[in-house]
Amino acid sequence: MADVYDRHYAHDRGRVYYDHICDMALEDLPRGGRLLDLGCGTGLFMTRYLASGGTAAGLDISRGMIARARQRCNGCEVSVGTAEQIPYRDGTFDAVASILAFSYLQRPEAMLGESFRVLKPGGTIAVCTLGRNLLTVLVPVIYRIGEKVHIRRIGMADFGEHYYRDGEIAALFAAIGFEDIRVRRCSFAHRDLHDLVFFLARKVEPFVEERIPQLAYNICVSAKKPD
Ligand SMILES: C[S@@+](CC[C@H](N)C(=O)[O-])C[C@H]1O[C@@H](n2cnc3c(N)ncnc32)[C@H](O)[C@@H]1O
Repeated sequence: MADVYDRHYAHDRGRVYYDHICDMALEDLPRGGRLLDLGCGTGLFMTRYLASGGTAAGLDISRGMIARARQRCNGCEVSVGTAEQIPYRDGTFDAVASILAFSYLQRPEAMLGESFRVLKPGGTIAVCTLGRNLLTVLVPVIYRIGEKVHIRRIGMADFGEHYYRDGEIAALFAAIGFEDIRVRRCSFAHRDLHDLVFFLARKVEPFVEERIPQLAYNICVSAKKPD
């Protein structure tokens, strides 16, 4: 995925979709602090955070992704490793973010525990990932059919990802000790939609997010480590 990732999320419709998710995460994060981006991929979100005046470090399990993040975020500390075992000392960061990566973790509770540990007291975490709803419940089935007929492309592969319900993800955060937990839904207009459907989806997206959030594709959670 490292070779093709930016083609999908750094440009055009993919960028619109991606920026919308990032904006929601950034709304809840402190400006100008020190951020750790877990599952940082090619560093797209780190550059957004840097633009807001902060500093950023990234961790990703993929060497290919980290090589690209290193190029994109010149001067940022980026390393290969799992978000479930974070190679930083307690209380290092003002903020932890994880964009479109949480659903792929095998031990999400370990990632949250580690995030809690490396956050400073009063620090904030923002996670945006795949949300379970009436539509996404069908996505794994569609992926499997796609793979059977050999339509393999990003967004059309089954990685065993988990689609979270609001209460389910909030309970994971609460069990670790996070407080002020806020769960929202975003991005109904997914980049893989047919052109016309994407255009219409963009038009109704604000309405969907506000009035029928259970139809939106992603789930964004933010929370604080107690002071
Ligand atoms: C869909 S990409 C999102 C990348 C990036 N966060 C972004 O916003 O563009 C998911 C990323 O999660 C990473 N990932 C999956 N499991 C991981 C783990 N256990 N620890 C760290 N990164 C992981 C993948 O390597 C991949 O880069």
